[in-house]
Amino acid sequence: MSITILGIESSCDDTSSSVIRDGVLLSNVIASQSVHEAYGGVVPELASRAHQQNIIPVVSEAIKRAGIDKSELDAIAFTRGPGLMGSLLVGTSFAKGLSMSLGIPMIEVNHLQAHVLAHFIKDTPEDTDQPSYPFLCLLVSGGNSQIIKVKAYNDMEVIGQTIDDAAGEAFDKCAKVMGLGYPGGPVVNRLANEGNPKAFTFSKPNIAGYDYSFSGLKTSFLYTLRDRLKEDPDFIEKNKADLCASLQVTVVDILMNKLRKAAKDLNIKEVAIAGGVSANTGLRDAFHDHAKRFGWKIHIPKFAYTTDNAAMVAITGYYKYMDKEFCPMDAAPFSRVVL
Ligand code: KG4
Repeated sequence: MSITILGIESSCDDTSSSVIRDGVLLSNVIASQSVHEAYGGVVPELASRAHQQNIIPVVSEAIKRAGIDKSELDAIAFTRGPGLMGSLLVGTSFAKGLSMSLGIPMIEVNHLQAHVLAHFIKDTPEDTDQPSYPFLCLLVSGGNSQIIKVKAYNDMEVIGQTIDDAAGEAFDKCAKVMGLGYPGGPVVNRLANEGNPKAFTFSKPNIAGYDYSFSGLKTSFLYTLRDRLKEDPDFIEKNKADLCASLQVTVVDILMNKLRKAAKDLNIKEVAIAGGVSANTGLRDAFHDHAKRFGWKIHIPKFAYTTDNAAMVAITGYYKYMDKEFCPMDAAPFSRVVL
């Protein structure tokens, strides 16, 4: 018997819905919110209003593109948290309404767990390129930087995480001071491709274990700009590409150093990346390089599954459905959580 899951994601500024049948993607629709660009960051109140406008058309489109009727759905999986409370409320409330009207169960999904499980989405039934347990996953986004030991779909241990800023935040904040707009990560990545990564040196943290820190790098970047701008007011404009390349190589080095240490200590050679920053081509290149140098089997998500999307929610829902892990109607969203 086939299992068909509808996924709903609304944790931040992307409204997304997806249909997955037996682990295979049938549709994945994402409406991104451009309204935040003018503010240099996500405005929570505007995000929830936009979700409210987008959710019905996005879910309808996901069902239509999947080529199914809503009566064929077996369960609704929705992101319960972490994320912005107002945004989560829209997806959660919608999931409740739809599940009641269709008489099918609801499945709550942890957004971070979903990012990791994005690696299990099959684009075709023949797709077998999935990680095997246990593997390490570097989860890097605008709000998180974690090294996770994944022992099973429902057994994940965070062995290291940032003690201050996330990697995406470091990209975004440094981009902001260069006047590159929001979100800055993709712009830094594009400019870095034309720059010299050795042009500038920024400080790297020195902390124990597998934890990360990016606030020192941010400060060191800021001080470099401040000092150089005193000598030349056009410093940023003249050195944008080199600044981006040097920043990117530093972030990637920080991320890879700890990941390499974890892989060595735990003797795990199957390694994945997930989250918005996993779209970064410098980080992807470093993964390929480590695969060659250390014999890692690597898993790099398709670009469509790096940023927030409902396909990762639906695949998580699919695994939870198999274990009959349903949630009650009074499930309320949570804004903060650890895995
Ligand atoms: O996972 P995500 O879509 O949202 C959450 O934070 O949950 O991640 C967004 C982050 C932003 O900080 C953005 O700048 C960063 O991912 N990002 C990138 C790239 N694409 C997105 N950072 C560096 N290089 C990229 N190509």
